[in-house]
Amino acid sequence: MFSGVIGRYKDFLPVSGSTPEVTLGEGGTPLVRSRSIGPMLGCEGLYFKLEGCNPTGSFKDRGMAMAIARALETGRERVICASTGNTSASAAAYGSRYGLETLVLVPAGEVALGKLAQAMAYGARILAVGGNFDDAFRTVMGLVDILDIELVNSLNPYRIQGQKTAAFEVVDDLGDAPDMLCVPVGNAGNITSYWLGFNEYAKAGLSRKLPRMMGFQASGSAPIALGRRVDNPETVATAIRIGNPANWESANRVRDESGGMIDMVADEEILSAYLRLAREEGVFCEPASAASVAGLMRLPDLGVEVKGKTAVCVLTGNGLKDPGTAESRALVEMEYVAPDLEAVASMLSVDAGGWR
Ligand code: F0G
Repeated sequence: MFSGVIGRYKDFLPVSGSTPEVTLGEGGTPLVRSRSIGPMLGCEGLYFKLEGCNPTGSFKDRGMAMAIARALETGRERVICASTGNTSASAAAYGSRYGLETLVLVPAGEVALGKLAQAMAYGARILAVGGNFDDAFRTVMGLVDILDIELVNSLNPYRIQGQKTAAFEVVDDLGDAPDMLCVPVGNAGNITSYWLGFNEYAKAGLSRKLPRMMGFQASGSAPIALGRRVDNPETVATAIRIGNPANWESANRVRDESGGMIDMVADEEILSAYLRLAREEGVFCEPASAASVAGLMRLPDLGVEVKGKTAVCVLTGNGLKDPGTAESRALVEMEYVAPDLEAVASMLSVDAGGWR
């Protein structure tokens, strides 16, 4: 039976006989073939990796299982992170399950509602910092020096180890690595993890090729794409609203080693991809996740051939995380009506078995 990323991929993870098999059932997420966007672009195959199907609704659970296992193994009783929302939701869930006190620092007023609701429900202590993610992260790094506490941000190497299992799954499902992997980039932990995973599988002879790694930031918070820190990052994709990523160097290395790129997409492109995914593919992801698809759709304009290629877009988080964006940007008005057939039929202008 499938038993989470540690159970399934132990041979590739830094675990020993004494490492607890921490799991909430993370991993094993669907790889769904595109019916609309892929054919439109002429891809040989475009696939969406639905990381929103993880237990707390984002890819963070893969790395969190490993980070929490490590925290338990080393006898920690507390964990801490700075977060734009998903890391805090995941830390709070695994923390509560394994009896660890969880402290999260989030940028005040900038975390999507679903993510905050999760941290609250799981019972984390939540400090809303009057600044952005970068301010919260800097503060957390200071706290880690003075507290006996495990850092569970992606600077923790066990997070990267756990998250690399998503690359294993992609290869397991496709039979080889894709030609390119498109992923949204915030703190740049995930792009680092996928590259590690693809390389380890190739070395083990489980895949023949390596993908080009295509990372996408939002244009209002694109430090890596621009090559300079962004002091006041802004984007509708709050998950990746980061101006000074912790894994910056590593993202550049992944780009160079894989012959890939780290580029940026405008908020309008992100929202347009977000709605297309929902309306043409039946996939509801959060805005940051749609940056991967917005990025893929830009590639032909940037002179990168996607026709005839196999591509995977990582949809990092569930759309339900951010109900506010769906409500404000989906352009669907609720229509209020009296509770009787005549009123409903009249509102629909029912005619010849259909409606107008
Ligand atoms: N997509 C989503 C939905 C995210 O929550 C994040 C990061 C990313 C993409 C980017 O991944 O940081 O590894 O490059 N969220 C972090 C958080 C920052 O605190 O939840 P990355």
